[in-house]
Amino acid sequence: MSEKYDIDLLNRLYNMAKNGENESFGDFEKDVILPLKGTDKDSLPEKEKKKYIKTGEKIFKKGGFAVITMAGGQGTRLGHDGPKGTYDIGLPSHISLFEIQALKIKEASEKYGCIIPWYIMTSEENNDRSVSFFEEHGYFGLNREDVFFFTQCMLPMVHHNGEIVYDRPGHVKEGADGHGGIFKAVVKSGALKNMKKRNIKWVYVGGIDNVLAYLCDPLFVGYTQSKKCLIGSKTLIKRDPGEKVGVFCTVNGHPHVIEYTELPEKEAAMTDENGELLFSDAHILCNLFNIDIFEKMADERSGIPYHVADKKVVCEDENGEKTECKAYKFELFMFDAFRFFNDIALLRIKREDEFAPVKNKEGEDSPESARKMYLDWENRRHR
Ligand code: UTP
Repeated sequence: MSEKYDIDLLNRLYNMAKNGENESFGDFEKDVILPLKGTDKDSLPEKEKKKYIKTGEKIFKKGGFAVITMAGGQGTRLGHDGPKGTYDIGLPSHISLFEIQALKIKEASEKYGCIIPWYIMTSEENNDRSVSFFEEHGYFGLNREDVFFFTQCMLPMVHHNGEIVYDRPGHVKEGADGHGGIFKAVVKSGALKNMKKRNIKWVYVGGIDNVLAYLCDPLFVGYTQSKKCLIGSKTLIKRDPGEKVGVFCTVNGHPHVIEYTELPEKEAAMTDENGELLFSDAHILCNLFNIDIFEKMADERSGIPYHVADKKVVCEDENGEKTECKAYKFELFMFDAFRFFNDIALLRIKREDEFAPVKNKEGEDSPESARKMYLDWENRRHR
C-alpha cells in the first residue's frame, strides 16, 4: 500500500485536518480582497460580439477546440445508483446527462464542420460503468475514437485518529481527489498528449450536471483569446447573498473564487450603489483553458492546495457488522488554479440560458428544476 500512496502527503494532509487548517487562500483580515465582475455578454456591442464569434469559429473549424467533462464526482446529494452522467432527469426523450452533452457536441461539430474531441474524466469508482453506458448507447452517435475517457487520482480517506479507513476487510476506502485533480489527471492519463497531437488550443472544462451548459460557444473562445487571457470563466449574478456558490474576487491582485463557506456573512450581503451584490459573480464551473496551462497546473510545486471535507463512512468488519465512522476526505478545487494567473476573461451570462445544475434529489438545483429550465430553454430556442 505504501507504494500506491504518497505517505508524506497523507501525513501532511492529516496534520492539517487535525489542526483545523484548511490551506485556504485569501483572508479578509490580512489580504486585499476585492470583488471581480464579469463583462455582461448582453452588454457587448454587436460588432464586438461578431468579432469574437468569428475568432472562435475559426478556431473550431481548424479543429483547435475540445471539451472536457468532469464526471468523476460521487453525486452524493442526488443519491443516484450509478455514475451521475447516466441519470435521466425525466425529459420527454429520457436522455441521460451524458447524452445531453453528447448531442451538444455533435450539433456543434456538424455546424462548424469539424471534429470536437470529448475528454471525459471519471473516477476509478465509476469509470467502467460510464464506459459501458457509452458502449450500450453507441457513443450517442459520436465517433468513439473522438471520445477519450481518463480517470482522476484517488486518495485514501483517513480516520480522525490518523488511520487509513478500511470500509471492508482488506479494502481501503478511497475518494476522488476533487475536480481540481483534473490537471494532474489530464497530464498523467495521456489526454494532454492526445490533445497536442490533435493540435487543440482551447478546451472547455465543465461538470456533467449542468444541463444548460453551452459547451461549444465560439463567442466565449473568441472573447478569452482576444483578451489575451489563458483562462476564461462564465459567471452569473448570485440569486441572493445566501446562494451556495463561490464568487469571483481578486486576492492581492490575483483572480480567485471564494467558496460560500469562506465568504463572511457581512461581505456576502454588501451591495454597491446600484443595489447589486458587491461579490456578485458566481463561479459555475464553465471554464475555458488554453492547453498550455495544464502542465504547469499539474505540477505539485504550483501548490494548488487540498481542502478537507468531513465525511461519514460505513465500515463492515469480518463478521459483516456495520459501523459508521467519521473520516477526512481530501480534495483539490479547480478554481484554486486561477490565482496563478494575472488575469481571467470573465463573461457574465444569464442563468436561464446556461445554468441548470442537478445537485439535489429535490427542491433547488434538482432534476425537477433542471428539467423545467431545459424545456423552457428548448422552447425559446425553437420559437
Ligand atoms: P460537485 O462538487 O457538485 O460533486 O461536482 P458531485 O459529485 O456532482 O455531487 P456531490 O457533492 O457528491 O453531491 C461538480 C462537478 O465536478 C465533478 C462532478 O462529477 C461534477 O460534474 N467532480 C467532482 C469530479 O469530476 N471529480 C471530483 O472529485 C469531484
